[in-house]
Amino acid sequence: MKSLVILISGRGSNMQALLEAGFQADRITVISNNPNATGLEIARKYGAKTIVIDHRTFPDRQTFDTALAEKIDACQPKLIALAGFMRILSDRFVQRYQGRLMNIHPSLLPAFPGLGTHARALQEGIKIHGCTVHFVTAQLDHGPVVIQAAIPVLPEDTEETLAARVLQQEHRIYPQAVRWFMEDQIRFTENHVEVIDSSVREIALYSPGLPE
Ligand code: GAR
Repeated sequence: MKSLVILISGRGSNMQALLEAGFQADRITVISNNPNATGLEIARKYGAKTIVIDHRTFPDRQTFDTALAEKIDACQPKLIALAGFMRILSDRFVQRYQGRLMNIHPSLLPAFPGLGTHARALQEGIKIHGCTVHFVTAQLDHGPVVIQAAIPVLPEDTEETLAARVLQQEHRIYPQAVRWFMEDQIRFTENHVEVIDSSVREIALYSPGLPE
C-alpha cells in the first residue's frame, strides 16, 4: 500500500499542488496542527481525509509529537510530506521517520533556514534565490536535498513579489520530489539523494543574465 500523509499548518497551497499531482497513492491523509488552517477545507474538496491535532491542547512538544506519530502510524504512510507545517519536531519524532520525512523550504538551503527567508534574501542583496525540497534531519531546515529551483532576484523585487515567484516554483518541485519518492526513483548515498530518472543536466541560471 502506498499511503501519503501531508502535514500542514495554514494556507495549504503546496498541499494543493501535491493533491493536484495525482500520485499513485492509495490514500492521502492531511493532518493539521491548526484547526483554522484554510488548507483543511481545500483538502476536503480534493477528497483527502483530514485530521486536526491542535498542538495548543497538549502540555508540551513531546506529548504532541507522540499523538501526531500515533495518527501518522495509523495511516502506514510511505512518505510524510511537510507542507508549510510550522512546528519544530522533536529529535525522537524526526528519527522515527528518518528517510521518509520530506520538507519544502522557501530558500536555496543551506542559505536562510528559519523564517523570513525572502526579506533576508533581499537584505543580503543576493541575485539568485529559490526553494528546496529536502529530507528532514534533527537540524532545522537542513538535510539531504532532493531538488531545488532557482529564480533571479529582480531589482524591483519586494518581499511579496519574490515570495510569489518562489511559491510558483515550490508548486513545481514539491510534486516532482514526492512523485520520485513514491515511485522509488530516489536513492540515498550517505548524505546525498540520487534521483535515478533525472534527465536534466547542465542547465545554469545567471542573474543578471549574461550578454548573448
Ligand atoms: C511555503 O512557502 C513553505 O515553503 C514554507 O511555508 C509556506 C507554506 O505555504 N515552509 C517553511 O518555511 C518551512 N520552513 P503553503 O501553506 O501555502 O504551502
